[in-house]
Amino acid sequence: QIDMQKEKILTKKVALIGFGIIGTGVVKILQQKREELKKKLGMDVELHTICDLNITKDRGVSTEGIHLTSDVNDIFNNNEIEVVIELIGGYEPARSFTLKALDAGKDVVTANKALIAVHGKELFAHAAACGRTIGFEASTGGCIPILRSLRESYTVNNYDYIVGIVNGTCNYILTEMTEKGLDFQTALKQAQELGFAEADPTFDIEGVDSAHKASILATMAYGKTVSFKNIFHEGITSITDDDISFATELGYTIKLIAYIRELNGAIDIRVHPAMIPSTSEIAGVRGALNAVQTNGDMIGYSLLVGNGAGSLPTASAVIGDLLEILRDRENTSLSDAPHYPPPLGYRTDALKEAKVLSLSEVTGEYYIKCSVIDKPMVLSQLSGVLGRHEISIASVYQKEQDKGEYVPVVIMTHIATEENIQNALQEIKKAEYCKIANIIRVFDQL
Ligand code: HSE
Repeated sequence: QIDMQKEKILTKKVALIGFGIIGTGVVKILQQKREELKKKLGMDVELHTICDLNITKDRGVSTEGIHLTSDVNDIFNNNEIEVVIELIGGYEPARSFTLKALDAGKDVVTANKALIAVHGKELFAHAAACGRTIGFEASTGGCIPILRSLRESYTVNNYDYIVGIVNGTCNYILTEMTEKGLDFQTALKQAQELGFAEADPTFDIEGVDSAHKASILATMAYGKTVSFKNIFHEGITSITDDDISFATELGYTIKLIAYIRELNGAIDIRVHPAMIPSTSEIAGVRGALNAVQTNGDMIGYSLLVGNGAGSLPTASAVIGDLLEILRDRENTSLSDAPHYPPPLGYRTDALKEAKVLSLSEVTGEYYIKCSVIDKPMVLSQLSGVLGRHEISIASVYQKEQDKGEYVPVVIMTHIATEENIQNALQEIKKAEYCKIANIIRVFDQL
């Protein structure tokens, strides 16, 4: 028991690389909560050094007493710094800095999903060889403790499937388009201003960021590593106002979904927009909120929801990891029993590379939207193409338009294979009666 009044408590020095939106949040929290954290940790956390290429810019936060530098070696060469918080994002130099920090005997905390998804295997092995660890809770789902849940609380479970809304920017854009009729570009600009988007927002809107997070979730849920290049990802840039209003009329909400399940020993992992029933709980996850739904054989249904992007929510998760590492490190040095659960939830020697199911092998229901010439026989030609590709139609909707040669037609299918759908789509796109043809996958079971 530490008597804070009487005992002189330990000071733990930490450093931050990357003074951006989340980095600023970390600085704010460590300053505002310093006294409170002492009561929880029994130690004082001192943010000793901040390294960034631009160290003079005013971030609206005090940096008094903190060593500011553009030379990352100031951190690696300082033996007093025990933990490095990496918040520069991207693959390089984040990877090299992480390796160097571990080599220098420091633990690392990161929010960098790209780094963990693509270089995680190498980095965790290196950390283990150095007797260090990497905290990465903030990498997936922002403030939601989903990785900790998969690693620890839910550890006994096998999962039917995992469904995530794991990109705050896309969820924000789709919500604004659905609820306020905002156009895509305006909604994206707002998401950037609110600090949700990646430095390169194409990572958000093309589904790359969600695929990074899906890869982390898949490994932790199924104990298999997934090569990032094998993950199918499609973004939200082709979603139109028409799609959104059709979806609403049909009782669906469009979300960018990360979907993971194990099927016959292979991993079905993909990121794409999906129409999900508006009555499902996950459809109600709005704005920049993220959610991960897990269906485990012991827990049954679980839905964890929280802010998936933004400065303070993400920084909160970073600091959660930081305190855990400082606490564990202190205890580990007292007793020499290592008691960290493996970072990915499975022992490294138990992690095998997953066979990833090719998208053409998956089946599902589809929304097919075409813009077709408003003439007799067109619908029958369209249904003929689908029939030839063994696609059974569940319903057809056509929107009356005032004028114009082309009208939007929507076909909802029964279960079909992705391969047949893609083949039919190619044929429809080439037909002279059709201007646009697109699909959205439907998840009726959610
Ligand atoms: N750009 C990401 C998002 C940040 O919008 O969700 C959180 O990883």
